[in-house]
Amino acid sequence: MSGMHVETAASKSFRAPADTLTPAQRRYGILPRPDLTWTPEVERATAHLYERVKTIIPSVEWPFFAPYVKAINELKAQRGAVIIAHNYQTPEIYNCVADVVGDSLQLARLAAKAKEDIIVQCGVHFMAETSKLLSPEKTVLIPDSRAGCSLASSITGADVRLLKQKYPGVPVVTYVNSSADVKAETDICCTSSNAVQVVESLGVDRVIFLPDEYLGKYVASQTKVKLILWKGHCEVHERFTGAELRAYREADPSVQIIAHPECPPDVLAEADFTGSTAHMIDWVKTRQPKRVVMVTECSMADNVAAEAPKVEFVRPCNLCPHMKRITLPKILDSLLTMTEEVVIDPAIAERARLPIERMINLKN
Ligand code: 13P
Ligand code: SF4
Repeated sequence: MSGMHVETAASKSFRAPADTLTPAQRRYGILPRPDLTWTPEVERATAHLYERVKTIIPSVEWPFFAPYVKAINELKAQRGAVIIAHNYQTPEIYNCVADVVGDSLQLARLAAKAKEDIIVQCGVHFMAETSKLLSPEKTVLIPDSRAGCSLASSITGADVRLLKQKYPGVPVVTYVNSSADVKAETDICCTSSNAVQVVESLGVDRVIFLPDEYLGKYVASQTKVKLILWKGHCEVHERFTGAELRAYREADPSVQIIAHPECPPDVLAEADFTGSTAHMIDWVKTRQPKRVVMVTECSMADNVAAEAPKVEFVRPCNLCPHMKRITLPKILDSLLTMTEEVVIDPAIAERARLPIERMINLKN
C-alpha cells in the first residue's frame, strides 16, 4: 500500500483569478494541495487516531482515509480553525478530525463559545447557518452547501407570516432544523433535546410549533400546552415503522429500542427511550444494554459502537443523504480554499439570531 496516491475531484488544486476571490479567500489566502500519499510516516502520524476507529473501519480502508486525516489536522492548526461535527457524521470525521461533536443544541452552544476565527461545520446547512448567526464575526465554512434538510426545506418565511396572520398573538416555536428566513419570523427556537422545556417556558396555553409534525406530536404528548403543527417531516426518520420495531422485539424480547423524536408516533410507541442524538448516546453509554436498536440515522450507531464496544447494535440503516455530502476530501478542500463560506443577509440575520439566543439563554 506504501506509495499509494489518493486523489479525487474535490482534492484537486484550486486556482481562482484574483478578481473572483471571496472575502475569506482574500483574508486567509488559498493554500496548495498537500501530498496525499499513504506512506509509513502517515501511518505513524495517524496510528493513535486509527486506534479509535479500528473496530469500525477495516485496516484495508485506513490508507484511503489517513492521508486526508493527517492533512486536515495539520491544516486546521495552521489556519487556526475549529471543526464542529454533528453526531451523524461518518466515523472518520467524527473520531479523527472533529474537535467537538454533539447534537444540535450542543453544537449551537459550542459555536457561540468558539475562540477560533474559523469554524468548519461538518453537518447540514441549517447547522452552519446557526453557527454563523451566533458568531457573525467569524468565518463559517461548510464543506458542501448542498447539505440540506427535508425539514428545513418544508417551510418558508412567507409560510410563517401567513400562520401568524391566521393565529394572531400565538407565539411561534421553531425547531432549529429551519432556515434563517424562518427563524427570523420566530419567537424562540428549540432542538429535540429541549423542545418541551422551550414550549413550557413561554407560559401560554397554545403555540405554533414548526416545522416537524412528529416532534410536535411527541412534545404535545409531554405537555398540557396545545400545539398548532406544520406537516414537515424528516425524510430519514419518517421511514421507520412500528411494525419493523415489533419484529425486532419479537425476535429478541430483551432488546432495547431507543428512538429520535423525529420518528412517527407509532415508532415512538415502541421505544423504551426517546431523546435527542446526544441523549441517545448518553443513554447507551450509561446503561450499557446487551443489545440496542438505535432508531435514527445509522452513522451514529457506528460512532457510539466505537465508544461502547460491549454493546451489540442492531442497525436498521437509514442514512441522511445530506449529512453524507460531507466527506474528508471536501473538508480538506474547504480548509484549503476557504469555501463554502456561509453568508446571511444582515437584515434577516439580525432577526434570526434572537430566537436562537433566547433558547441558548434559557436556564437548564
Ligand atoms: P439532534 O439535535 O438530536 O442531534 O437532531 C438533529 C437532526 O437533524 C436529527 O435528524
Ligand atoms: Fe434533516 Fe432528517 Fe437529515 Fe436530520 S436526518 S438533517 S432532520 S433530513
